Amino acid sequence: MASPETARALTVVAIDGPVGVGKSAVARHVATRLGFLFVDTGAMYRAVALRVMALPEHERTEARLAELVGALDIALGLDGSVTLDRHDVTLDIRDESVSRHVHLAADSRAVREALVAKQRALACSRPSVLEGRDIGTVVCPDARWKIYLDASTDERVERRALQLEALGKPVDRASIRRNLIDRDARDRARPWGALRIADDALVLDTTGMTESRVIELLVAVVEAG
Ligand code: DC
Repeated sequence: MASPETARALTVVAIDGPVGVGKSAVARHVATRLGFLFVDTGAMYRAVALRVMALPEHERTEARLAELVGALDIALGLDGSVTLDRHDVTLDIRDESVSRHVHLAADSRAVREALVAKQRALACSRPSVLEGRDIGTVVCPDARWKIYLDASTDERVERRALQLEALGKPVDRASIRRNLIDRDARDRARPWGALRIADDALVLDTTGMTESRVIELLVAVVEAG
């Protein structure tokens, strides 16, 4: 039987949490500070969703999705760029329509199996920070550090509203809240790869904390070994 040391031997920081908690920005900074690879797994589901959205509805079968994801070349650049079959889709995947339809990719077992294998290969290639919903539970249950970032719904709505304001975009807090609650519910209800706190995760409620404070805390946790 594996000892606890070997069972948690992968040099990976697994960061999971609900929509809008700020996982991506925090994970990216933590990776830079530690000199680790950063893997935004949500970006991969978003990239696949772009292709699934382009399929006629009657073609969105598991068999077709398995074929599609098997043939896709998704690459995450060190600068945060995302390419799909060598086309830059960095901005396209952040579109609101993709956020609304990303479940077309994330709910598919075939898509999840293919992406989890890819994420796992990246995690094994070098010390990494992976961020998503199922990193500590499914992708890297043997990650050395598992963090579950949380924040109150009010705070997550406010963080999103401030981001939109900074971009000069219209802000409708009621709609942001509805969207966030819907996406969380979907992420928690998924039969495979659902958002769940790993039994051995460190849960950090970031309500009222600045982003830099969260980054400092996580870097300290990793540096403590
Ligand atoms: O983190 P994000 O909003 O960019 O993720 C987009 C969607 O992808 C999100 O609604 C849930 C899904 N996702 C997932 O199912 N598993 C992951 N590891 C990462 C994201």
